[in-house]
Amino acid sequence: MELSFGPRRIPAGVLGGRRRLPTLVAGSVGFLGTQPATLCSIHEMSESRVIEASQCATHNPVIRPRRNRVSPAVRGLVRETELSADHLILPIFVVEGSGVEVEVNSMPGVSRWSVDRAVELAKEARDHGVAAVAVFPALTEGFKDPFAKEATNPNGLMQRCVSALKKDVPEVAVITDVAMDPYSSDGHDGVVVDGEIVNDATLPILAAMAVSQAQAGADIVAPSDMMDGRVGAIRAALDAEGFTSVGILAYSAKYASAYYGPFREALDSAPKAGDKKTYQMDPANAREALREVKLDVAEGADMVMIKPAGPYLDVVRQVRDAVDVPVAAYQVSGEYAMIQAVAQNGWMDGPSLMTESVTSIRRAGADVVLTYFALEIAKQLR
Ligand code: PBG
Repeated sequence: MELSFGPRRIPAGVLGGRRRLPTLVAGSVGFLGTQPATLCSIHEMSESRVIEASQCATHNPVIRPRRNRVSPAVRGLVRETELSADHLILPIFVVEGSGVEVEVNSMPGVSRWSVDRAVELAKEARDHGVAAVAVFPALTEGFKDPFAKEATNPNGLMQRCVSALKKDVPEVAVITDVAMDPYSSDGHDGVVVDGEIVNDATLPILAAMAVSQAQAGADIVAPSDMMDGRVGAIRAALDAEGFTSVGILAYSAKYASAYYGPFREALDSAPKAGDKKTYQMDPANAREALREVKLDVAEGADMVMIKPAGPYLDVVRQVRDAVDVPVAAYQVSGEYAMIQAVAQNGWMDGPSLMTESVTSIRRAGADVVLTYFALEIAKQLR
């Protein structure tokens, strides 16, 4: 047999006649829910016989799943997974200044915004029903040091942004990132000593960072650092300061992923040396994700997260089945960039990819999705 998909070589017998269709089925076939039937080979159908269906198929399926797909209305009735802005979180990158919008090279359509513009963006998100924003500060080198001191500055960029958001757009839940990397001169999520990321020395820094964010008005703090014991340390610190109602969204199963590339460009936060593999998870592991998630729940996490999302849908499902707390998944910068890149090339349809990818993350079991498409999706849903 000859197989060729180019226009020149057409396999003999497949399109032999003028209007022959490919050979699909031949002989006697039995189907679940149908009478065994004889289907003639489409291959045998000459042009004149093609319409003589009675000669050809005596096959009448009783069960026809296609009935539930006949129209948009029926498809809507039976749809299992809803996409709704109620479950979406829009990540926002913020920079110093006012009236500033600088697009991120590798994320067409996503910018770094000054606080005033971030507030405008959050208002637009609110007007379209987006539930929450996640704030990530992009700091210049001068604000970075080995211990991320700027992270607890009550007048820091993050704190000013959070309080502006809570003042001007109080309906939108504000989620803050707890990790040292945007503030660290080493570009790591923990304290670096002799090239090693030191777990326990990092915990008080993270706890103080979370308290500072809560003081600024954060509704939910989201530790993304992957240090052991940080959820417990943060919960204790928040409670000690009276922030018992501030929630913790734990980045529980955060993989050491190449998909974070565009984010690190946006924040200029790539590690100066080494990688994050001693704290972020090995992409090969799923059982380990369950271990991380259960630990975080035991330490007081109110929600857990899997990140990235699209390449880890099996992990999302397993986590959903293993715990009772809400599960979030983060469609990260690289997933966004890939979709935008193929869309810009005209190779695939961007808007469809956007909703299909996020629907799939929800179907896999995510209650909440962080996505740079949150506003676009919300607009499409209205
Ligand atoms: C920082 C942090 C990262 C992301 C969220 N918080 C990057 C990293 O760990 O290097 C990635 C988000 C994205 O890629 O969209 N701790």
